[in-house]
Amino acid sequence: MKAVEIKNGIYWVGAIDWAVRDFHGYTTPRGTTYNNYLIMDDEITLLDTVKYDFSDIAIKNLQSIVDPAKIKNIVINHIENDHVTSLDAIMALAPNATIYITEKGRKGLDRFYDLSKWTIRTVKTGDTLKIGKRTLLFLETPMLHWPDSMMTYIPEEKMLISQDGFGQHIASAVRFDDEFVDCQSMSELEDAVIDYYANILMPFGQLIKAKLSEVQKLGLDIEVIAPDHGIIWRKDPKKILQMYLDMANGKTRLRVSIIYDTMWASTEKMSTPMMQGIKDEGVECKVIKLRATPMSVAIKEFWNSRGCLIGTPTLNNIMFPTVAEFLTHLRGLRPKNRMAGAFGSYGWGGGAVKEAYEELNKMGLELYEPGLQILYKPSLEDEAKCYDFGREFARKVKIYHEKF
Ligand code: FEO
Repeated sequence: MKAVEIKNGIYWVGAIDWAVRDFHGYTTPRGTTYNNYLIMDDEITLLDTVKYDFSDIAIKNLQSIVDPAKIKNIVINHIENDHVTSLDAIMALAPNATIYITEKGRKGLDRFYDLSKWTIRTVKTGDTLKIGKRTLLFLETPMLHWPDSMMTYIPEEKMLISQDGFGQHIASAVRFDDEFVDCQSMSELEDAVIDYYANILMPFGQLIKAKLSEVQKLGLDIEVIAPDHGIIWRKDPKKILQMYLDMANGKTRLRVSIIYDTMWASTEKMSTPMMQGIKDEGVECKVIKLRATPMSVAIKEFWNSRGCLIGTPTLNNIMFPTVAEFLTHLRGLRPKNRMAGAFGSYGWGGGAVKEAYEELNKMGLELYEPGLQILYKPSLEDEAKCYDFGREFARKVKIYHEKF
């Protein structure tokens, strides 16, 4: 896709990755984009670069607007591989450019490249760079989501270049939120935002709240938010800011996700009456079998629900491996403000449900105890217990949900 002018003299010169389905372990069914931005001003400035295998495409887009040798400044907002691994290709064409980056970014970049050959200036929150008619204001955003991360605000354009923040993994022929909603839907865009937040930003809710409050105190007027992945927010940037604030504050749907795996279908059979009990209590329910679901989708469904029931058979006295994997992954994301319980079948001896609770407890989630265990195969009487377990869990989740 060719360069797109997103404001007078400011161009998207990135690349679209239609085919990526595994983004360092996250499932990306919609693909993604690597966005970078060119500002044509007295000092021609490039903000961010793209993943190395898309450097030719991005450079071609850049060259359609300007000879890269004329670039005076390159801002690196984030040093993760998908944003800096074509920097050497760009610098080969723009050897006189000065790179602007945070101190932590510089230290990290030093592991990728020999920096002695380039001019580097480190910046911190509040530093500015006048590039002609426009000014760049740098805002460090450490741990959102890497230590090096920062954003760049252009006051004259009321535009925030937000690196990974407010991004989504969406490959699309359109660049803006209003265009995307016209050709697809707002709910799909929201789903992509939630997917991205749940899998990447879930651990950083408190930092997000603090940073949003800092932006508010600085009085930044934001009309356009241009992330480094996906769709640019120009129609309603307040919507994405509010979505982030809501998620950081623990808001989610009154819903229960049943996330389970099964050996000989006994744990699976427990989930059906449980789902019925949840539904009869008036709570929405989503049932996810881990062996049939990508990890990042299961994480998103967890995040999208106030309550979660973990189902695991006992195998060799411990949890089923896919369930253990899911809970380990979830623990790393430091979930908050969710209620959780566990259930499962066992044969000779139990152990998995107890272990699942130990994991859920380590995460500091609101526990619903005791769990429910069934020997071998649920009888009709056991199915009635599963129904009651699901219904009572949903009732507790409804009460818990009122806190938020
Ligand atoms: Fe898109 Fe943190 O990289």
